[in-house]
Amino acid sequence: MAAIAILDKVSKRYPMAGQEVPALREISFTVQSGEFVSIMGPSGSGKTTLMHILGCLDVPSSGSYVLNGIEVSALSEMRLTDVRRKQIGFVFQNFNLISTLNAVENVALPLVYQRLSQAEQHERAAAALEHVGLKERMKYRPNQLSGGQQQRVAIARAMVTQAPIILADEPTGNLDSQTGHEVLELFAKLSRDGHTIVMITHDHEVATWGQRTIEIKDGRIVADREVVAQ
Ligand SMILES: Nc1ncnc2c1ncn2[C@@H]1O[C@H](COP(=O)(O)OP(=O)(O)OP(=O)(O)O)[C@@H](O)[C@H]1O
Ligand SMILES: [Mg+2]
Repeated sequence: MAAIAILDKVSKRYPMAGQEVPALREISFTVQSGEFVSIMGPSGSGKTTLMHILGCLDVPSSGSYVLNGIEVSALSEMRLTDVRRKQIGFVFQNFNLISTLNAVENVALPLVYQRLSQAEQHERAAAALEHVGLKERMKYRPNQLSGGQQQRVAIARAMVTQAPIILADEPTGNLDSQTGHEVLELFAKLSRDGHTIVMITHDHEVATWGQRTIEIKDGRIVADREVVAQ
């Protein structure tokens, strides 16, 4: 197996009123290619901070983060943006779809940074939508789709560039349990297809959909274990 994300003693401190608030303290773990990892922790434990670092939206105060062979902890904002576009597919709690664009146009959005014709962009976006079971809904706008369907569009958008990691932040947080279950089934399917998924959640039950759970508390890893199939 190849290591896709390697964190080594990653710390994050936020400056606050002349002091520094420690949000992450020497976090070390490695995500292997093809793994489905859940990161779990209570409110204030550092999940969003960690997700921002994993997603190249922010850099550590100290420590090293190697993403797909690139040391990202010291990159300029411009280089970081470039790495983010190529290496990460994001899925957010509130879907973050553009309301004026239909499903296939939303999914095609991350492809604008690639040298592809309009037809190729459309073809790839349509294939990604088919993969998440929404071929019949390509022309629907977000407000014409259910919450679960919107999240599946967002997952198709996260996959369309074939980024090496899908990073999901509370992907079921805005869904009822039945619909949330369907979205988790989709992640499980993508995982079986070989996608690498890192999912952040405060919900223990949601976390156990991963093959491995990393638990953080007060900015530290307190557990890192394989999920035993039931
Ligand atoms: N911009 C900031 N400035 C100062 N302190 C911050 C900032 N962002 C986060 N923190 C602090 O860092 C710690 C971790 O915050 P973080 O948002 O990562 O937690 P979280 O696990 O995502 O919580 P929640 O489940 O409530 O979203 C908290 O103590 C928080 O107060
Ligand atoms: Mg948070």
